[in-house]
Amino acid sequence: MCGIIGVLGTHEVSPILVEALKRLEYRGYDSAGIATVNGGHLDRRRAVGKLVNLSDVLVHDPLPGKSGIGHTRWATHGAPTVSNAHPHQAGCVAVVHNGIIENFKDLRDELAGHGIRFVTETDTETVALLCEFYMRDGTSATEAARKTVARLDGAFALAFLFDGQEDLMVAARKGSPLAVGHGEGEMYVGSDAIALAPLTDQITYLEEGDFAVLTRQSLEIWDAKGNLANREMRQIKLENARVDKDGHKHFMAKEIAEQPVAVDKALKAYLSDSGEIQMPEGLDFSKIERLSLVACGTAYYACMVAKYWLETIARLPVEVDVASEFRYREPPVSPGTLALFVSQSGETADTLAALRYMVDKVDVIAGLVNVSESSIARESDVVLPIYAGPEISVASTKAFTCQLTVLLMLALKAAQDRGLPLPEGMPADLRALPGLIHQSLASEAQIAAASRDLAGARDIIFLGRGQLYPLALEGALKLKELSYIHAEGYASGELKHGPIALIDDSVPVIVMAPRDALFEKTISNMQEVMARGGRVVLVTDADGAREASDGTAEVITMPQVPDALAPILYAIPAQQIAYFTAIAKGTDVDQPRNLAKSVTVE
Ligand code: F6R
Repeated sequence: MCGIIGVLGTHEVSPILVEALKRLEYRGYDSAGIATVNGGHLDRRRAVGKLVNLSDVLVHDPLPGKSGIGHTRWATHGAPTVSNAHPHQAGCVAVVHNGIIENFKDLRDELAGHGIRFVTETDTETVALLCEFYMRDGTSATEAARKTVARLDGAFALAFLFDGQEDLMVAARKGSPLAVGHGEGEMYVGSDAIALAPLTDQITYLEEGDFAVLTRQSLEIWDAKGNLANREMRQIKLENARVDKDGHKHFMAKEIAEQPVAVDKALKAYLSDSGEIQMPEGLDFSKIERLSLVACGTAYYACMVAKYWLETIARLPVEVDVASEFRYREPPVSPGTLALFVSQSGETADTLAALRYMVDKVDVIAGLVNVSESSIARESDVVLPIYAGPEISVASTKAFTCQLTVLLMLALKAAQDRGLPLPEGMPADLRALPGLIHQSLASEAQIAAASRDLAGARDIIFLGRGQLYPLALEGALKLKELSYIHAEGYASGELKHGPIALIDDSVPVIVMAPRDALFEKTISNMQEVMARGGRVVLVTDADGAREASDGTAEVITMPQVPDALAPILYAIPAQQIAYFTAIAKGTDVDQPRNLAKSVTVE
């Protein structure tokens, strides 16, 4: 979380920094700030809240200079105030930071022992003060930064700028991503390539423990052992880095609408014209005895759906874990386990730590990611890209449906490798998915109208059974993060074991029930809700609607689908309900409070 940018430029840098921060704002938006060196003089401007507030500050109080660093913050240590906003400055040093310095209290005590005073509540200020302290005896800026970085525990991506040094920037990476961009007589650093895309397509990714010294004409990188390192410069594809709303009101609306195309792309990457599922080498399921799937949030719910598929279609035992629990549980790992880590960003700190736990315990580590250059991708033996394209809205939508699509193909491939028959119509039926998603998007107007009613609720319950149970969880997660309405997802069979006590006529209950083998069971649970005055919104298909509409407040009718595809399709109304309820409540759809897109701290 937090986005950082640095530019050693040939033009005025403030507008360039602000523009890059716009592209990083999805990583946090509690405050923003920039610092520049101009005529040798280091200065900064900061503002609380969205980037637009920093732009206002800069209109009234411009910050000249051709070298600068910038930051957009997701608060960890200290409230979102101007004083806690980055860049942090200590005398001749300014620093921007993404991550958490775990030993900052010890370092603070040590510096306080030298009479050094602190003016913020942040861990990052310690970095600036320590570096400035090392420079007091004449140690060069670069050496002082190197000594400072060597003292830090925790996770960080850092960029340093120094008073009097307009052609120098220092960057370091441990645990948080950082990329260096190469321009024409310019050099950049950024949290990701998207931030740097308008500036350059020539990128060098820093690796764990790297320490980099940049001038406009040079880049030197030392690895974690202190040896000079030769890191590859890659050309990134700029079309993948386009970040605009394409006429939609929100990125989320655009990303929901993009799903037919995104899912089609994911399908084409793994499904050959002759109808075979093709996966990267290294995934031979005839040798795999069980799977361990690990992820966070929405990606975790995708794994929960995959468990149903892998168990029923490929008859493989599957364990699914939330990464933040898995990493500290020290789970024993049986031989023959495939460890699969699912992450849109590929940078989620807990998922990455869980992956590292598994490195010497399993033969194959697979990463299912959207960002192919991410840490999880780079540290996996086998990478399964989901091809969703950049997902900017904080709430995951198209990445979820693309994750599901690739996971379903993985289950089919596993069945193929194990000599098992595929479900009837598979994999050919997969080709219908983009069209079916397109059809289901047509419920938009009806869902928008129903959501105006939902927006008045204090609590909302989602119910689902079997492979639709994780969709109930996902529907509730999406709704709470966007609309701030308390929502819970339950397996519908669990209702009478407690949650049914919540039901009265003020609690809308959204039931996700395609007309499948479990339909009647779910509908019985729905009847139990209605018998207690609960207002039911039923999401089903035409057959289900014919059988079970009576007494419901609203029926949202989805296209008829083969069973295995239902979780992918039912993600669409779940997303639309959250989107339109948020619109009705007037909350910030793309940047909900307290959240950030890329969770790079644990
Ligand atoms: C919810 C959402 C989050 C992410 C979670 C994992 O809409 O987007 O729950 O799914 O933070 O992120 P990734 O997939 O980047 O590891």
